[in-house]
Amino acid sequence: MNITLQVWRQDGPGVTGGFKTYQVTDVSPEMSFLEMLDLLNERLTNQGEEPVAFDHDCREGICGTCGVMINGQAHGPQLGTATCQLHMRKFQDGATIVVEPWRATGFPILRDLVVDRSAFDRIMEAGGYITVDTGSAPDANLIPVPKPVADTAFDAAACIGCGACVAACPNGAANLFTAAKVSHLNLLPQGQAERWTRTERMVEIMEEFFGSCTNHGECEKACPKSISIDFIAMMNADYVKAKFKNRRLLAQRG
Ligand code: FES
Repeated sequence: MNITLQVWRQDGPGVTGGFKTYQVTDVSPEMSFLEMLDLLNERLTNQGEEPVAFDHDCREGICGTCGVMINGQAHGPQLGTATCQLHMRKFQDGATIVVEPWRATGFPILRDLVVDRSAFDRIMEAGGYITVDTGSAPDANLIPVPKPVADTAFDAAACIGCGACVAACPNGAANLFTAAKVSHLNLLPQGQAERWTRTERMVEIMEEFFGSCTNHGECEKACPKSISIDFIAMMNADYVKAKFKNRRLLAQRG
C-alpha cells in the first residue's frame, strides 16, 4: 500500500505547529498504525530528519499510552479499538490520512503527536484508590460480590485512561474517564470506605482541568473499551449524594 500522511508537527509546547505531508510507500496491510508510523520514522531518520514523536508502550490495547486523531476520529475509524490495534488494512491503498494529537485544553501538546495527560494523574491521586489492611492476602471469596455488580465494576475498570473520550468531546470533558475510575471502586464493597470523599474529590479535580459534560455521547463512541456513558449517570448520582454525606461526616467529626 502507498499512503499519503498529513502529520501534525510541533517542536514543543506553546510553539506554532502545522501539518507536514509524507509519502509512505510499501506499507503492509498487516501493519498496525503504529508500525506504519515506525516505518515513516525509520525513513525520516535515514534521511537525517527528525522522527515524528508519538506515545506508545504495550501496543496491545492495554496501557492507554497510544492515541491520536486519525482523519478527525480519536483512535481512527474502527470502533472499540486503540490506535495500536488498528491495522492498515482498514484504509484504502492510495489513501490520504490526517494524523493529529488529541485536541483538548486539558491535554497540552508536548511535541508532534504527544500530549501531556498528567491531568488524569491528578484526578487519580484525588481518590482512585482504596484503603486496605496490610498483612497476608485475604482468602478468595471472603467478601461476596454479586456477579452483576462484579461484571459492571469490571466494565468500568476496563478504562485504559488513553484520553480518547476527552479528545472526542466537543467540550473537552473528562467525565467518561472520571466516571469509569469512580464507578469501578464505588460499586465494590472494598471501595465503600472512601466512596463519598473519592467521588467529591475526583469530580472537583476533574472540573479544574476539563470542560463540562453536556451529554453529546461522543466519548462512548471513541472509547477503545466501549465504556458506557451510564457510568457518568452513576457518578453524577453519587456526586449529589457525596455533597450531602461529606458535609454530614464533617459535622459529626466536629
Ligand atoms: S500502546 Fe498501549 S494501549 Fe496502545
